[in-house]
Amino acid sequence: MYIGLKHAHSGLAYLALAALLIVMIYALIGALSNREFTEKDRKFAMIAFILSHIQLLVGLILYFVSPVGFSLLTGGGAMGDKIARLTALEHPVINIIAIVLISVGYIRAKKLTESRAKFRSIYMMYGIGLVLILSRIPWHSWLG
Ligand code: HEM
Repeated sequence: MYIGLKHAHSGLAYLALAALLIVMIYALIGALSNREFTEKDRKFAMIAFILSHIQLLVGLILYFVSPVGFSLLTGGGAMGDKIARLTALEHPVINIIAIVLISVGYIRAKKLTESRAKFRSIYMMYGIGLVLILSRIPWHSWLG
């Protein structure tokens, strides 16, 4: 179960990161070109929103079965080690904050009425979320 979840979390990371980046750039171009925000734009933003939520769900389960997740926090010693602190504390906390911001961006865009404001809500919140996520990826184990 652990290995399967770790692979799923690793593979989904590519999809979620690519979707967030593409939707963010797409929304930025939409705002700059002053065009109307359509239902297609909303659905497009929803794909990145859903992918990041699936990643959140898989991450939460992984956190409790992984040897470098919650067990490190309870076992002690994690706070003194940089890599252990990353997977046991910083990566989960920062990513949950990032996904909350992405959700605010998407939900606010649905409620706003002006097209430019809708695009702005998406590119700003998805952009901040993406920077936060990228700042706390365990690169050493993912691509190393
Ligand atoms: C969009 C959000 C997220 C992205 C893009 C992401 C991405 C990643 C990546 C690329 C890895 C390294 C995988 C590997 O070494 O094969 C990883 C590891 C991990 N992630 Fe996430 N993650 C996200 C959210 C979360 C959340 C919310 C949690 C927990 C609440 C979480 C828990 C973990 C844990 C515990 C590991 C270490 C797994 C291990 O090596 O045993 N992740 N994550």
